Amino acid sequence: MIREPITGSRAWTRRTIRESDWRIPLPSSCLDEIERLAGVLERDPVPTCLLDPSDYELDACRSLLDDVHRRLDEGPGVAVVDRIPIEELSGRPRIEAVFWLLGAMVGRPVVQTLDGRILLEVTDTGVKKRIGVRGFRTNVAQPPHVDNSFNDAPPDYVSLLCLNAAREGGASRFVSFCAVHNVLLAEHPRLLERLYRPFYQDRQGDFWPDESQTVFLPVFELRPDLRCRYTHFTIPAGYETAGVDMDAETRAAFDTMTRVVQDPDLCCEFTLRPGELQFVNNRWCGHGRTAYVDDPQRRRLMLRLWHRDGGLRRYRG
Ligand SMILES: [Fe+2]
Repeated sequence: MIREPITGSRAWTRRTIRESDWRIPLPSSCLDEIERLAGVLERDPVPTCLLDPSDYELDACRSLLDDVHRRLDEGPGVAVVDRIPIEELSGRPRIEAVFWLLGAMVGRPVVQTLDGRILLEVTDTGVKKRIGVRGFRTNVAQPPHVDNSFNDAPPDYVSLLCLNAAREGGASRFVSFCAVHNVLLAEHPRLLERLYRPFYQDRQGDFWPDESQTVFLPVFELRPDLRCRYTHFTIPAGYETAGVDMDAETRAAFDTMTRVVQDPDLCCEFTLRPGELQFVNNRWCGHGRTAYVDDPQRRRLMLRLWHRDGGLRRYRG
């Protein structure tokens, strides 16, 4: 357990983070490369999941994505590239290809579902959030969390490309779990100790019939840096499906964590616009969104990749 306040750029709060820490305008040299790339892909298409950035002339984009990578590991853990000219890429296959190639320069894309899907749409499919339904298919509010907290090998980075924004709401919200850890250490040190011990988490439908529906994992781990496995939904769902009541300390630790991750003094919020590309460090930076209402003619739509360089590309890592 870390028993001293975490300092440095990872432990940002709303007061210390500046927009220039996370927003990166797309340089014109990258824009030129992307336009040339779109032409090459149109004449010589390759299935998206076989695209390799080293096969294309992307030097300017590579240095941009190196900057993104630095901000994810050594900066605030969140970065937004402003913006990809999606309206000029002549169709969804080219948009997906450009997203894949840029994302692959931050980290190797990996499978996001038990049935092997690697490039997902985050959109409201009309299903209600319940046990077994993952949040990317719904329009409900999601407090800052990490993706895939219940898996053996959650992704190290998560990227989103905004294709359509919501009519109302759907703002992105971020928190540094290092800053959350600092608040808990100062104000609730005994509950912080509890967060280093395991909690049940529901696997959200991503398990085989011969496997347990729940896992039992700590919210905070040192691996070797701070890594967080917090989600607002899968932990209470885990206790429910395991048929175990939270004891008073477990309940207090979970409720306190849930309150602190949404503290407006800690969170950074912005609304992604079409063409903007958002990256987050999924180990120690939480991402969420406010609830949203769609324009029925043009639903909020994001493309999502998960990235992890270690282990295998399969869902279990
Ligand atoms: Fe998420």
